[in-house]
Amino acid sequence: MQSKDKFGRTHDYLRISLTDKCNLNCSYCNPVISERNLNKEEILSYDELLRLIKIFVVNLSYKKIRLTGGEPLVRKNILTFFVALHKIKNEYPFELCLTTNGTLLEDKIEKLKEFGLDKINISLDSLQAERFYFITGKDNLHSVLRSIDKAESLGFSPVKINTVVMRGINDDEVIDFVEFVKDRNLNVRFIEFMPFSNNSWNENIFISNGELLKTIETKYRLEELDSCREKVAKDFRIIGHKGKVSFISSISDHFCQSCNRLRITANGNLKLCLFSQIDSELSLISLLRNSLFSDEAIASRIAVHLHKKKYNHPDIDELISLQNNNMLSIGG
Ligand code: GTP
Ligand code: 5AD
Repeated sequence: MQSKDKFGRTHDYLRISLTDKCNLNCSYCNPVISERNLNKEEILSYDELLRLIKIFVVNLSYKKIRLTGGEPLVRKNILTFFVALHKIKNEYPFELCLTTNGTLLEDKIEKLKEFGLDKINISLDSLQAERFYFITGKDNLHSVLRSIDKAESLGFSPVKINTVVMRGINDDEVIDFVEFVKDRNLNVRFIEFMPFSNNSWNENIFISNGELLKTIETKYRLEELDSCREKVAKDFRIIGHKGKVSFISSISDHFCQSCNRLRITANGNLKLCLFSQIDSELSLISLLRNSLFSDEAIASRIAVHLHKKKYNHPDIDELISLQNNNMLSIGG
């Protein structure tokens, strides 16, 4: 069964938040008023996740699964989960991707690759140790840099670096990031800061990618690459550089028209859009825990639910006022 929404958009990319816990406390992500973390019983177990992934890949023809968090690598026995996932992947191929903050990656990345990880995106918002600490609350810059080195040397191609840019906080490092990827198989992606419940967004901190592009073009010659339609990022080659630079402009130039993504939150809700509200979520955890629902029945509930997806997310004024959309549980 192919998954199309009522606007004819094929959906074949699933993002799963494995946990709402994170070992960092980034100002742009974590709610200022700290909410409690979910209990073990409230999140999808590994067996439930494996069953769901199989339903998406086998019954609904999904081609790409991205594991996110919180921080996905804080979840206990994550490598055991990858081993089980690898077995499914060998039988029913799909692209397996991970978005991580890179702090717990260094000693796991070889195994993750061995167990089928295809693509890796690593968050990094500053190349300066003190500033990294200021943004994340942890002194972990060097372990992230070592993880990036290791990912590159293991042949992940390219390693994507996610950089959320905030005016007055790290916007002066944009050129440093472009230099960082100069001779490396890295793709730095500048992400526009998005508002979420209780994060530190305000219009003075927001900086558009258009402005960053202008700054970069004062020093470098950029050439836009043909991006594939569903990609959230606009990619550029920098003349004379091995690495690439991209822009994810969720706010100034949203890419809803080509959306191919569904999300599952850490507590097992199916989310139609990064910004959709709790009342439009489908509780997959309840279906999985109800013995009356077969895989086929769950797949068909998901397919029906997809038809409720709206064409685009609201504009910025409405986004600011939304409640209950906590990035830690959604996973980006
Ligand atoms: P690739 O598969 O490598 O293209 O990664 P990705 O961009 O899909 O995933 P990643 O987890 O690296 O996310 C990068 C940024 O894009 C994060 O800030 C996400 O919140 C944002 N993002 C991803 N999907 C969407 C989306 O559907 N809508 C919006 N507004 N932002 C998104
Ligand atoms: N705006 C933009 N990107 C964000 N991320 C987390 N919070 C925000 C936000 N408010 C990014 C992280 C990570 C990805 C999954 O989402 O940097 O790379």
